[in-house]
Amino acid sequence: MTASVLEVAGLSKRYGETVALDGAAINFQAGSIHAVLGENGSGKSTLVKILSGIVAPSGGSVRLGGVAVTDFRPVAMQALGIGTVFQEVLIAPDRSVADNVLLGIDGLFTRRVPRAGRAALAASLLARVTRTPMEVSANAGALALAQRQLVVLARALAKQPRVLILDEVTAALDYGDRDAVFAFMRAFAAGGGLILFITHRIDEVTALADRVTVLRSGRVVRTFARGEVDVPGLLALMAPATLDALADAA
Ligand SMILES: Nc1ncnc2c1ncn2[C@@H]1O[C@H](COP(=O)(O)OP(=O)(O)OP(=O)(O)O)[C@@H](O)[C@H]1O
Ligand SMILES: [Mg+2]
Repeated sequence: MTASVLEVAGLSKRYGETVALDGAAINFQAGSIHAVLGENGSGKSTLVKILSGIVAPSGGSVRLGGVAVTDFRPVAMQALGIGTVFQEVLIAPDRSVADNVLLGIDGLFTRRVPRAGRAALAASLLARVTRTPMEVSANAGALALAQRQLVVLARALAKQPRVLILDEVTAALDYGDRDAVFAFMRAFAAGGGLILFITHRIDEVTALADRVTVLRSGRVVRTFARGEVDVPGLLALMAPATLDALADAA
């Protein structure tokens, strides 16, 4: 069996009375696209935020490459090779597209990538995720939401992560850009990286994922390999209450 590049066990997060994540255990394998599927509020983004160092877990463990993570801060998670595209698309509107793409490798107040190479580097990172040309010297504030999404995706690549977490990244994209992002994801996994792909869209899971973990009310329902479960099965696991309600109404 393939070794896990990322393992979470007993992972929990409480916000006061709310249990956002409740003892989640998942093994993620290198060189794969692993989808985490769940309805609104099932705990997907909470998992993402823990793995990105945005929130500390209330309990449980995370291991990367077999080593237990002890420092849950964004810089520490990035240093371990985790790159994240968050559900909320964060852009510095008064800065150029190039600056926005290179934001993660520049310092907060300094530009580490020299002026001469900036445009070319930003353009090459963007070219990995889209075929839509973008003017890298333009202000990012002028971009449509779809383009902003591609900019933050390119930004995550700038640090050359080995684990790339994508939280609902396709929501704002048209079909052309979505296909380009899917092609990029397949290439990233083929190169040995892990794509942790968060979605509530079953069609995206069946199109892409090597494995899928279903989350419901903060709990892992189950993890399946490709072909082990069909669409009705996934639907039922995501929200059996809905199916029960439909059956009752019939
Ligand atoms: N900062 C917070 N404070 C309090 N409760 C929170 C906070 N963040 C998330 N929650 C709650 O934790 C639960 C899980 O939220 P989470 O954002 O992880 O869900 P999700 O699966 O990403 O949902 P969506 O599909 O809407 O993005 C929800 O009940 C949510 O309301
Ligand atoms: Mg979410």
